[in-house]
Amino acid sequence: MQCSWKAVILLALASIAIQYTAIRTFTSKSFQLCPVPIQQNCSLSGQEAESLFERGCDEYTYFSFNTSRKTHILVLATTRSGSSFVGQLLNQHSDIFYLFEPLYHVQTALIPRLSHSRNAADRRVMLGASRDLLRSLYGCDLHFLENYIKPPPTNHTTDKLFRRGASRALCSQPVCDAFSPGETNVEEGDCVKKCASLNMTLAAESCRDKRHVAIKIVRVPEIGDLRALVEDPRLNLKVIQLVRDPRGILASRIETFRDTYRLWRIWRATGRKPYNLDLTQLTVVCEDFLSSVSTGLSHPYWLKGKYMLVRYEDLARNPLQKTKDIYDYLGLSMDKNVVDWIQANTRGSNELLTKHKYGTVRDSAANAESWRLKLSFDMVDYTQSVCQKILHRLGYKSVKSAEELKNMSISLVADKVFVPFL
Ligand SMILES: *[C@@H]1O[C@H](CO)[C@@H](O)[C@H](O)[C@H]1NC(C)=O
Ligand SMILES: *[C@@H]1O[C@H](CO)[C@@H](O)[C@H](O)[C@H]1NC(C)=O
Ligand SMILES: *[C@@H]1O[C@H](CO)[C@@H](O)[C@H](O)[C@H]1NC(C)=O
Ligand SMILES: *[C@@H]1O[C@H](CO)[C@@H](O)[C@H](O)[C@H]1NC(C)=O
Ligand SMILES: *[C@@H]1O[C@H](CO)[C@@H](O)[C@H](O)[C@H]1NC(C)=O
Repeated sequence: MQCSWKAVILLALASIAIQYTAIRTFTSKSFQLCPVPIQQNCSLSGQEAESLFERGCDEYTYFSFNTSRKTHILVLATTRSGSSFVGQLLNQHSDIFYLFEPLYHVQTALIPRLSHSRNAADRRVMLGASRDLLRSLYGCDLHFLENYIKPPPTNHTTDKLFRRGASRALCSQPVCDAFSPGETNVEEGDCVKKCASLNMTLAAESCRDKRHVAIKIVRVPEIGDLRALVEDPRLNLKVIQLVRDPRGILASRIETFRDTYRLWRIWRATGRKPYNLDLTQLTVVCEDFLSSVSTGLSHPYWLKGKYMLVRYEDLARNPLQKTKDIYDYLGLSMDKNVVDWIQANTRGSNELLTKHKYGTVRDSAANAESWRLKLSFDMVDYTQSVCQKILHRLGYKSVKSAEELKNMSISLVADKVFVPFL
């Protein structure tokens, strides 16, 4: 019998769906995540809570604490768009519990092989699981995350949490005793080395102690995919969508993901586009940005007060002011830790610049456009043609010649102000 590729894909998808169902079933049994609604503990009226409860246990799963006081912050980004930087701006705040890409575990548990799959069925499975996980994490239910961690944590402890060291809360008391409370700038590697295995129960306690929760994700394609979370009355979600010039993203990925973007490097080195180049590595970024930004900027009622579009280049140009704008939108005040971190991490080495109080500005702005020296005009020209709409929409200028591309005295980032949608 012939085994067609379609049959293979169908089989693979079926097994994914089964795994996902299995995980969910297992979860609701082993952790009893179906608490009886406690009406006084939430911002719903009794009636609303009841109707929610009638929709089934699933809908009610993670709701058993006073949510009205928490802000649930979501940084929606893509890889190499400056999301670690934005994550830090939130991570440094003493009232914020921050997690760096927890969806990594969802992906590795559900679709380990098809990691770049754009298949519709895969995508639905991944998104459903991602929304469930985010919902539980915003409720500080970190035990739910354990279902996706490999190998499975024993006694609720693990040393396999992805980028644990990127979260301040997970590197400080009560979660980790290795550093004194005064030590604010713990290196990610030091944290992983010196803190013992992560006790998820303590991590959850730390989450509950902080006033707000922020999560950075790069595995959800666009804002429309998050609508169910945005509209969830149990959450107080505020989305920060981070975008960056796709040409800058491409240049950065070519440097960072050397294997996956190997053919792009060949293009750059030889001046010839390899025939088997995977163009979706670029086009998907532009398509996702376009659909997200079109949704966001069309101001639908469900995003009212819950969406802010941030261009990475604007942050790089003026980190302090832009960060303040972000905190204003979140309704929080930017604390001293955040200001200190910005000053320590965006200051240029140039003597002249450091004389100015926030002299980093020009320095990091130049850095945000340094991709212009790393891509050939051919590659830029190609990117401009396939990403034309989104470049225009976001205020990134196209270049018409190699001279223009390399002339750094002309910025390609137009002044555009994206106000939060209030
Ligand atoms: C909120 O929930 C906790 C435990 O879930 C419970 O002990 C407490 O009494 C509740 N608060 C109110 C005001 O109902
Ligand atoms: C929930 O938290 C808010 C803010 O801390 C507080 O004002 C409110 O009384 C709390 N509600 C309950 C039921 O505990
Ligand atoms: C888990 O805890 C139990 C009881 O405290 C202990 O007997 C067991 O050895 C622990 N398992 C691991 C892997 O640490
Ligand atoms: C994790 O922390 C909790 C809360 O302090 C504690 O009860 C538990 O024993 C700890 N687990 C391990 C394996 O140390
Ligand atoms: C770069 O652009 C500036 C401003 O348009 C222009 O004055 C300058 O001659 C250009 N430099 C080069 C090397 O083309």
